[in-house]
Amino acid sequence: MEIIVQPTAQTAGCTVAELMAQALAAQPELVLGLASGRTMEPVYDELVRMHREEALDFARCRTFNLDEYIGLAADDPRSFHYFMRRRFFDHVNIQSGHTHLPDGLASSLQAECENYEKLIAEKGGIGLQLLGIGLNGHVGFNEPQSPLDSRTRVVELSPLTRAQNASFFPSLEEVPRRAITVGIGTILDARRCVLLATGLSKAKIVSKAIEGPLTTVVAASALQLHPNCTVVLDEAAASGLRNKIFTRK
Ligand code: GLP
Repeated sequence: MEIIVQPTAQTAGCTVAELMAQALAAQPELVLGLASGRTMEPVYDELVRMHREEALDFARCRTFNLDEYIGLAADDPRSFHYFMRRRFFDHVNIQSGHTHLPDGLASSLQAECENYEKLIAEKGGIGLQLLGIGLNGHVGFNEPQSPLDSRTRVVELSPLTRAQNASFFPSLEEVPRRAITVGIGTILDARRCVLLATGLSKAKIVSKAIEGPLTTVVAASALQLHPNCTVVLDEAAASGLRNKIFTRK
């Protein structure tokens, strides 16, 4: 794993946006795997800025998001669909038919999961997968004990994950209990993974994921198996690492 440490969450986000922009410039029809969550806000803000000020072009790329809550409509302000539109898609020249998220209101959730996997494969697989990390080590919504070969499926959200995301909802009770997420196997199939984690609250889990044993208890540790994975951290999220050999930019 390549580990890059930046002084702040803002500069770490910009580093990730820069990696994505370089990949897009090299391959304009790139298939991007995207993530939601507060950590990603500086990344999308910087990509939007690059689009406006540096003509970064999204016209030919395609995106697949990692996950979506079950039971929320795409226009529900608490959905990941809404987050992605408001933060990113609405502000760049990506074709609306080229952005994909699982449909949390699908009449057959099973069929929705199977079709999502099929569509990713049909479009050539994910070229660059952006990832955040949950406090319990989840990637996407792959909670502890997710199998390494898991694919897109319906999952139950853990109490910690629901609490972590409660600030987006009027009360903890209203945080959905289930979600659709791509699997660990789906993520490991991406040609490149870029994990971004920022803030002191992530320091412990980042160290477990990167330096701890490969274990399904920490879903993100599966990335140790990936041949082309970059981890971008701010100083706070890197503060728990025992091995201090990393690129400081
Ligand atoms: C959420 C998402 C993940 C995200 C993670 C971290 O629940 N499903 O894709 O990476 O948890 O969120 P945040 O960036 O808000 O800490």
